[in-house]
Amino acid sequence: MKQWFSPFLRPDRNTDRNNRLARNNATRAERGERGNLPGTKRPKLKKCYNTDDFRQRAKRKLPSPIFHYIDGGADDESTLRRNTEAFDQLDLVPRVLAGVEKPDLSVKVLGRELKMPMFFSPTAMQRLFHYEGERGIAAAAEQFGTLFGVSTLGTRSIEELGQFANTPKLFQIYIHKDPALTTNLIERCKAAKFDALALTVDTIVAGNRERDYLTGMTTPPKLTPRSLLSFAAHPGWTCNYLFRERFDLPNISKFVAAGTNVKASIPEYINGQMKRSISWDDVAGMIREWGGPFAVKGVMSVEDAKRCVEVGASAIMVSNHGGRQLDGSRAPFDQLQAILDAVGGQIEVIVDGGVRRGTHVLKALALGATACSGGRWYLYALAAGGAAGVARACKLMRDEIERDMYLMGCNSLKELKPEMLARRIS
Ligand SMILES: Cc1cc2nc3c(=O)[nH]c(=O)nc-3n(C[C@H](O)[C@H](O)[C@H](O)COP(=O)(O)O)c2cc1C
Repeated sequence: MKQWFSPFLRPDRNTDRNNRLARNNATRAERGERGNLPGTKRPKLKKCYNTDDFRQRAKRKLPSPIFHYIDGGADDESTLRRNTEAFDQLDLVPRVLAGVEKPDLSVKVLGRELKMPMFFSPTAMQRLFHYEGERGIAAAAEQFGTLFGVSTLGTRSIEELGQFANTPKLFQIYIHKDPALTTNLIERCKAAKFDALALTVDTIVAGNRERDYLTGMTTPPKLTPRSLLSFAAHPGWTCNYLFRERFDLPNISKFVAAGTNVKASIPEYINGQMKRSISWDDVAGMIREWGGPFAVKGVMSVEDAKRCVEVGASAIMVSNHGGRQLDGSRAPFDQLQAILDAVGGQIEVIVDGGVRRGTHVLKALALGATACSGGRWYLYALAAGGAAGVARACKLMRDEIERDMYLMGCNSLKELKPEMLARRIS
């Protein structure tokens, strides 16, 4: 009897079926190839045409602690705002009559050919935002041939995603106090055939996210007097959360010593488990241990970019963690020119953060970046409509990049040049 009921109570346990579902939802993207946008059968999703539309939809669908966990940044959120505003400092100056037939959007990142120059940065706890979580993202990444970043604090295991996601995969890692945990993660990524590793270096302590205190955000979410009303007002999300597979952080939960509640809260985990005194020796050691394509995520200074080249990293992700860590720090796009002047051509340079439009990607590439990545552009879409939402966000982004390439008069991404940018006259 219990067996009969169990797929209904915890439907995510039926892994094969759900893997198929996530993939089918994202496969609506194929219809997009013939003209329709993915998600067009879902009336609400159909009204989303850009990141802000997905954000509004996510806000309606999620209990407020969860929405603000995605949306918020550290302290006064000045860096969060600047990350996107920075792109407005430079204007695109198009070339016309350039005989563009069909722009080529492909680019090589961390040893793999991608079909578009925008990819999924690793983000924690995706199953909190929509029950399809990592499966939904992986399916959309596969559909659009882009790189899927998986977080150490992900809600699907390295092993499961290694099998499920038939697309280039990057695993985001931290240096833990316990070196055996870090080594365990690296070994598992090798066995699961991940393509690349990205070491996050800007999170040795947790950022001060004041919105999370105000909304009563905990991990996993708990019914508190502050959050109760919001959960009750979002029965769809709450039922999925209560009756689907139990929340877990499978990459770390089985490893950390009994008695340590890794799910108590992410800030607690970061403050308790991460090695604060990480150094360049740790980075060099990890590059040797991994032995494959390797990115350092969270580099902002020219000096650190040079050190990344010296220790043999393949890429830097110019990033301030989406404004979630050090508020008042510079925006990736503002810092890009200085970094390219110092290390351009010696290492791949990825602009991570603030990207909301295809034109943002074009501006970064015109300056000389290899590619762009981001978190919120697909997380809002995941919350808005699961795999179908992410596929729709991906198609919109890819179409924008392609359309803008036509309008810029460029046949390939390599034809984007600094001369095609001019400082805005305010
Ligand atoms: C909800 C959320 C969770 C995140 N989790 C992680 C994480 O686990 N590891 C990590 O390196 N970065 C994490 N990030 C940062 C992203 O990888 C990326 O740097 C950031 O989202 C870029 O800014 P954008 O959201 O403006 O694109 C997270 C970001 C968000 C919004």
